[in-house]
Amino acid sequence: MKTLKNFGILGIGTYVPEKIMTNSDLEKIVDTSDAWIQKMTGIKERRIAAENEATSDLAYNAAVKALESSNTKAEEIDLIVVATLTPDYFTPSVSAMLQKRLGAHHAAAFDLGAACSGFVYGLEAGGNFIATGMYKKVLVIGAEVFSRILDWEDRNTCVLFGDGAAAAVLGEVEEGYGLIGSHLGADGDLDDVLIIPAGGSRTPATHETIDNRSHYLKMKGQEVFKFAVKAMPGAVEKVLENTGIGIDELELIVPHQANMRIISSAAKKLGFPAEKFVLNLDRYGNTSAASVGLALGEALEKGMIKKGDNIALVGFGAGLTYASCVMKWAY
Ligand SMILES: CC(C)(COP(=O)(O)OP(=O)(O)OC[C@H]1O[C@@H](n2cnc3c(N)ncnc32)[C@H](O)[C@@H]1OP(=O)(O)O)[C@@H](O)C(=O)NCCC(=O)NCCS
Repeated sequence: MKTLKNFGILGIGTYVPEKIMTNSDLEKIVDTSDAWIQKMTGIKERRIAAENEATSDLAYNAAVKALESSNTKAEEIDLIVVATLTPDYFTPSVSAMLQKRLGAHHAAAFDLGAACSGFVYGLEAGGNFIATGMYKKVLVIGAEVFSRILDWEDRNTCVLFGDGAAAAVLGEVEEGYGLIGSHLGADGDLDDVLIIPAGGSRTPATHETIDNRSHYLKMKGQEVFKFAVKAMPGAVEKVLENTGIGIDELELIVPHQANMRIISSAAKKLGFPAEKFVLNLDRYGNTSAASVGLALGEALEKGMIKKGDNIALVGFGAGLTYASCVMKWAY
């Protein structure tokens, strides 16, 4: 029987656009208040892509840093996986565009649609090509320009999200390190609670869909909230059960940065100290597929992670989807 190889993250890169939009800026656009947004979500500000920036630009900037930090040349990359729900185009994929721009001439490329769970889905999907021995180096990216699919007249959604990108280079790591286990799931019964109704093959864009604003993201916030407060701790519990790792053996949890109240509720349910959850949603809001990677990159930069630490990553998002994994940090 063939044995599977251990894979792990060899380096991370992150990128956020320069432009900051504060809650006070939002007060000038929709009927909202800094106090409401902070109390209900924990978000203070978010980044907004420049007019000439699209998802592949953010992804490229993050990818270059991930290649640098892992000492990897673009030509060594065998596969590029980009998790996004805001690609530059329906086709070509962001991953194929990056293959050209990075000069990763030998890489296969595909995009992955798991919304805010995309980074964790991507780690598992991309990493398994290393586990089986098919590829040696895989670049996984979560990148979004959410500001382009938000309805800036809808206060229910536009205050929550931001733009950003995070990239990880995956490769083989020494025995006992890297990804220990993961748990991926979906609840398609809730496919209508986060949806962009028009612009796809069911309801192609017409003058009417534009007038109805139905090519923007629509959300049933309370239903997402109810799902998230169960799915986030549930996915962590499940991956701990699968891997036989106790919660007290975790050094950090890196959660999807959707809402502070969802994270606090997960901390309580799991009985895991709130201060061991990596947080940056106050500065970036919900950056969807980029969010977990962005928080992980920041934790690394701040020296919060050292070799041998057990780290759990957990996300949830449209679909609805959820995903968690546990890694023993490899460097
Ligand atoms: C969005 C969210 C914070 C709203 O909180 P909520 O408790 O569900 O609030 P409601 O939508 O019931 O609205 C409560 C009140 O606040 C108002 N409100 C909604 N958005 C507002 C805003 N941006 N500013 C000010 N008031 C707002 C509502 O109109 C409502 O007013 P009313 O009581 O006069 O009718 C919450 O539902 C949430 O976080 N859901 C999960 C969203 C998420 O994470 N999505 C991404 C998943 S990856």
